[in-house]
Amino acid sequence: MAEWWQDLFDEKYLTLFAEARGPLHTAQEVEALTALLTEHGAPAGGQILDLACGYGRTAVPLAQAGYRLTGFDLSPYLLARAKQVAADAGVAIEFQHGDMRQLPAEWAGRFDAVINVFTAFGYFEAPEDNQKVLAGIARVLKPGGLFIIDVSHRDRIMSAYRETDWFEVDDLLVCTSRQFDAISGMNTEAMLWTDDEGQRHSVFFKVHVYTATELTRMLDQAGLMPLAYHGALACPLDAYPFDAFSRRLVIVARNTV
Ligand SMILES: C[S@@+](CC[C@H](N)C(=O)[O-])C[C@H]1O[C@@H](n2cnc3c(N)ncnc32)[C@H](O)[C@@H]1O
Repeated sequence: MAEWWQDLFDEKYLTLFAEARGPLHTAQEVEALTALLTEHGAPAGGQILDLACGYGRTAVPLAQAGYRLTGFDLSPYLLARAKQVAADAGVAIEFQHGDMRQLPAEWAGRFDAVINVFTAFGYFEAPEDNQKVLAGIARVLKPGGLFIIDVSHRDRIMSAYRETDWFEVDDLLVCTSRQFDAISGMNTEAMLWTDDEGQRHSVFFKVHVYTATELTRMLDQAGLMPLAYHGALACPLDAYPFDAFSRRLVIVARNTV
């Protein structure tokens, strides 16, 4: 059977998550990413890998800001969309298809920065597979290169956990059912909705949700030394400190490998 992350990321994902990361939110995130890259010394026009780039939501505006972008993703559907978005914006981005556990060997030491945003980490059931992703990131970064990760985090999720929930998107009412496994630290969400023709649909995802403590340990183990923590990918960065209740966990780390 296919893994959930091989199934979710096509037009269903674009519909369900379109509003969670609309144009305003994206502009805010790109402003914060640019500020973090500058503050922590990534060179203007440097080489950036957008790891799990989706449809180019952050890669395209970062390329427009003058960085040289490479986008990597497993979803052929989202990559095709990303190529179109880049072409429409008139920016040259190298897109590569693949699994984030196996970054191309020839990329060793290539990037000034790697970004991984909007919870594109923790997808693999085996903890060592998620650790492998971090090891791969350290390998493709230049010595001293930056890694910026933006994920949801366990303290916040636990503080406001709702086993059932609903939201509206595109005139659809989507019901969500959640389960958290406190031993594995995996959060499972099933989303169910009925379309205009009365057809029922469902998707689910299951993600390791880390505390800042756990993710710090994993980054350290991969040779990625945390430099800064923020509570949202938004400017001004000082207005969004990281704490147990912050919306997001954003870590900027430096490659020491
Ligand atoms: C929540 S989306 C985030 C996309 C993008 N970073 C953004 O902010 O819009 C997660 C992305 O991870 C990609 N993905 C899922 N499993 C993957 C894997 N094993 N290797 C590489 N990419 C994967 C999906 O195709 C999807 O584009």
